[in-house]
Amino acid sequence: MSKQSESVRNQIILTLVDGKFHSGEELGESLGITRAAISKYMKSLQSLGLDIYSVTGKGYRLATPLELLDQEVIQSLRQHSQDTPLEVLNIVDSTNQFLKQKIGGLRTGHACVAEAQTAGRGRHGRNWISPFGANLYYSMYWRFDGGYQALSGLSLVVGVAIANSLNLLGVADVQLKWPNDVYVYGRKLAGVLVEVEGQIGGHCDCVMGIGINVAMPKDVNGITQPWIDLEEILGERIDRNRLCAVLADELITVLQQFEREQLTPFIQRWCELDCFRMRPIHLINGKQTISGIGRGIDKTGALLLEQNGQIKPYVGGEISVRSAE
Ligand code: BTN
Repeated sequence: MSKQSESVRNQIILTLVDGKFHSGEELGESLGITRAAISKYMKSLQSLGLDIYSVTGKGYRLATPLELLDQEVIQSLRQHSQDTPLEVLNIVDSTNQFLKQKIGGLRTGHACVAEAQTAGRGRHGRNWISPFGANLYYSMYWRFDGGYQALSGLSLVVGVAIANSLNLLGVADVQLKWPNDVYVYGRKLAGVLVEVEGQIGGHCDCVMGIGINVAMPKDVNGITQPWIDLEEILGERIDRNRLCAVLADELITVLQQFEREQLTPFIQRWCELDCFRMRPIHLINGKQTISGIGRGIDKTGALLLEQNGQIKPYVGGEISVRSAE
């Protein structure tokens, strides 16, 4: 998309956020383009997940007014804003990819957040559905100097930081599914994708990507597991700028402690949040399925499973509660 089209698209979004009707004629006139061109922009915005509808004679409007992400607002709500930049992006392929492309020039704690992702990434090569303005798509860069062993348990600690942030915002029943899915009432609320670049013995560059469902469009397609959003949990729409500020600060606090003390101080908290502790589960790793009772995590962050009275650690795989096929 050309810079000019991008700017027109952004101006249309800024006009529509009030949730009121705007006619194609009014929009066309103020932007210097035809009504037919406006109609094309509306279609492309709808394909990005914006819930726009049109009524003949009235024009276009958003189903609900939208509060856009705002860098100044987010930074004003943060405690660590001086030392750690946070970029607010409009539409990107992936916030993780955005930071990875800039790794050489980033300082620890540099973060970005976007209104929409066109190629949001989930774990295991899955897509992360990222409609415009609906959720939080956030990534933070961190440099670890102790090599790969310094990262042991990192993704679990990110899960703890998300749970702490949600608790601070009044979400009480947060649970974690090993290694780092965030669940509420048995449905997925948030996910974490940690991407690492580094050399054995050298430092590691980590980009930690977090997706939190805030107000997912109810007719969303392509999500293959039960999900929940903050709007459903809290009964009202939460301010994404505040969520972003709280999360950014909590991540920094937790990661600084993790750098100093590794996983140890977080193990008990993680186990308290564990949604499968003392429950029968299956651990699926490729074609292999191991069944047992969840017993939390060990000091490296490995999942502990009890089988025939013996507790063993496992480092890979995905937990399932359904019986394995
Ligand atoms: C998962 O599969 O559970 C992990 C999902 C991680 C999604 C987030 S959204 C922000 C960041 N950018 C990405 O492309 N992915 C992560």
